[in-house]
Amino acid sequence: MDIEKLFLRRKHDALFNTSYPIRPDDWKQFRVEGELDYAHCEVLSFYIHIPFCQHLCRFCEYARFHVPNREIQNSYLASIEGDIEKFLNAYPTIRLSGFDIGGGTPTSLDEENFEYLMHIYKGVIRRVGVTADFEPSIEATFQTVTTNKLRLIAEAGIKRISLGIQSSVNHVQQHNDRVNPDVERMQSVLNEIYAVGVQKVNLDLMYGLEGQTLLDVQKDMEVIQLLSPEQVTLYELRSNMLKMAESSSKDRLFQCYATLYKSLIDLGYSARFGQNTFTKNESDLGLSSYLRHRMIDFMPYKGFGLSAQSMSPLGVSYNVGKQGGDKKELLAYNSYPSKDTYQLPKQELLSKYIAVSAYYGQFRLAVADRVFGQCFLRCFNEEVDFCLAHGYTTLDDTSITITPKGFRYYGAVFSLFYRLAGKVNQN
Ligand SMILES: C[S@@+](CC[C@H](N)C(=O)[O-])C[C@H]1O[C@@H](n2cnc3c(N)ncnc32)[C@H](O)[C@@H]1O
Ligand code: SF4
Repeated sequence: MDIEKLFLRRKHDALFNTSYPIRPDDWKQFRVEGELDYAHCEVLSFYIHIPFCQHLCRFCEYARFHVPNREIQNSYLASIEGDIEKFLNAYPTIRLSGFDIGGGTPTSLDEENFEYLMHIYKGVIRRVGVTADFEPSIEATFQTVTTNKLRLIAEAGIKRISLGIQSSVNHVQQHNDRVNPDVERMQSVLNEIYAVGVQKVNLDLMYGLEGQTLLDVQKDMEVIQLLSPEQVTLYELRSNMLKMAESSSKDRLFQCYATLYKSLIDLGYSARFGQNTFTKNESDLGLSSYLRHRMIDFMPYKGFGLSAQSMSPLGVSYNVGKQGGDKKELLAYNSYPSKDTYQLPKQELLSKYIAVSAYYGQFRLAVADRVFGQCFLRCFNEEVDFCLAHGYTTLDDTSITITPKGFRYYGAVFSLFYRLAGKVNQN
C-alpha cells in the first residue's frame, strides 16, 4: 500500500501507540514450544512481577489482583525464587545490567513477605556480577510503603523507587478507582525515602484518562513542583488491552502532552519533545538501567512471575498468566514458566524495537541494523524519505528522532517501519 495512504489511515487509530504486537493474535504464526534460549547472552536484565495491588485502578492494563493473604503471597514468592534458581543454574555466568521489580505493586506485600522479596533480590546479587551502570529499581504506591519496607529497599542496595500518582485530582481518581493519599503524605513519604538513603525517585503521571481535563493535568504539575522528584514519567493511556468506552483524540492527547512538556521543562527537567521520561540528571535519561537497556539498546531481559515478558536475541515470551484466568488457579502454580514463546523473524524484532523506542521518541540506526541484520536505511529508504519530506522525523548519523509535528501522530509515524512476516503491515 502507498505509504501516504497507510499513514492517513493510521493517523487517528488508537491501536497504533507504543504497544506491540498491535493485537494479541498478531504473533500467532511465530509461536514455538519451550523457553527462550539465553546461551549466547553474557549480559541481560532481570524483572520480577508482583501482581498484587491494594486497589485496582480501572485504567490499568497490567496483570494484577487484590493482594491475597500472606500464605498465597509467600507461595507466589517461593515460586519465583525457584524459577530464578533454575535460571541461574542454567546460566551461571551471566551478568546483570538491570533489575526492576514491578507489578502490580511490590510494596503491597505484607512486611514479612516484602522482606522475603528483598531476600530473593539480594540472593541474586550475591551470585551474579553486575555492570558498572547497573541501577536497580522498584515500583511502589504511596499508600503501601512503610518505613520498614523503605529501609529494606535501601539495605538491599536498590537505588531507585518509582511511585505512581497518575492523577493528583480527586474527581479523576474517583472516576478511575484510583486511590492516592494527599500531597502532604506524599511529601512525607519522599522525605522518608531520602532519609533511608535511596537517592532517586521517579513519579508516574498519566494523561488521556477518562474524565481528565487539561486543567487537571496542569494541577498535576503543581504537585510535581512541590514534590520535585528526580524523574517524572508521562504515560499516555493505552487502551488496546482494555474495554474502555472512550479514548481521547490524538489532538487532545497532543495538547495534554505539550502542556505537560512545557511545564516540566520550565521546572528544570530535561527531555526531547516526544520523549516520555523527564530527568534532572541527563545521564540517566529518566530511566532505570533495565529500561534504558531494554528501550534504547534492545538488550535481552528475563522476566520472573505471572505473565512477565522476556526477550532474547531471537524472540519474546510471556509467562503463564498473560492470557488472564482464574486468580486462585494462577496463584497456586509453583512455577511460572514461559507459556507463549515467539521466535520472531528479524523484521518483527525490528518492529518490536521501534515500538519500544517510541517511548523515547527516537531509535538508533546501529541497533536497528543489528536487530534487522541488514542496513535499515537501505531497506526503509521510502518510509524514511516520506517522514523527512513531511517533517515527521529527523535523521542524523546515529538516530531517527520524532519531531513535534510527527509526535502528534507518533503511532502512525513509527508504525511505518513495522513489518509483519516480510511485508509492510497493512492493518
Ligand atoms: C505497572 S504500573 C505500577 C505502578 C504502581 N502500581 C502504581 O500504580 O503506582 C506502572 C505504570 O504504568 C502506567 N499505566 C498503567 N496502566 C496504563 C495504561 N492503560 N496505559 C498507559 N500507562 C499505564 C501507570 O502510570 C503506572 O504507574
Ligand atoms: S496502576 Fe498500579 S495500583 Fe493501579 S491497578 Fe495498576 S498496578 Fe495496581
